[in-house]
Amino acid sequence: MKKLIAVILVAMLALAGLSAMAEVGIPVLEAGENGTLVLATNANFPPYEFYDDETSLPTGIDIEIAKAICQKIGYGLEVVDIDFGSIIPGLVSNNYDFAAAGMTVTEERKQSVDFTDTYAIGIQAVIVPGDTEAADIYALLEAKGGHLVIGVQESTTGDIYISDEFETAGTADVQRFKNGADAVLALTSGQVDCVVIDNEPAKAFVAKNEGLKLLNSAYTEEEYAMAFPKGSEYYEAFNTALNELMEDGTLKGIVDQFIPAEN
Ligand code: ARG
Repeated sequence: MKKLIAVILVAMLALAGLSAMAEVGIPVLEAGENGTLVLATNANFPPYEFYDDETSLPTGIDIEIAKAICQKIGYGLEVVDIDFGSIIPGLVSNNYDFAAAGMTVTEERKQSVDFTDTYAIGIQAVIVPGDTEAADIYALLEAKGGHLVIGVQESTTGDIYISDEFETAGTADVQRFKNGADAVLALTSGQVDCVVIDNEPAKAFVAKNEGLKLLNSAYTEEEYAMAFPKGSEYYEAFNTALNELMEDGTLKGIVDQFIPAEN
């Protein structure tokens, strides 16, 4: 009996091939004719990735785009929800097939992963208590006597910019949180003076939590792309499908579902 089970296990592993190495996640799309891909994300980043209140399943712009692509190229999709800072190391170790996490393309990250073409733009925003008079983070710094406590999501571009600009200069203590919601909680409880995070999640957090508002940051626009382990066998077909969905309007349709047009 034991031997039979072992034989079956080996056969299953052989059949499943490389993707058997990937971690199992939350199924969001049934297996396709080519199998199932495993997506890594940090699902506390609305409107790009978050849990649907009704279904309790991961959804959002990234998840729905990834689903549409997987459907098009014959794969199912599973979502693994981990700390943002664990995503790139996990791709490098081939624990996941790809990542979709509102991830900004940076030169440094390019050393470790292959990015798809860009499908969205973001910019860092500053969340502050609603009664803040300062117009930007520099005015806030002055109002607070030259020293700030700034909350960020660990390992994100917001963390990198703020650490480089303020922590290095000794003008701020940076508190690094595992996800955006925890950083915002620290702000509402007065533990930090502001939170620096991408603008769309910032808007979503401000809408969900009373007594907060947004300031613009002076940082440059960032390009979001999905990321693959270097040399991934799925990269080519996936990126081609992404481009087709951008051209035929599917992608814009998904974005519009999650970001209602302003005005
Ligand atoms: N765009 C920022 C970065 O790439 C933040 C991304 C955070 N994403 C997330 N799913 N929590 O560093």
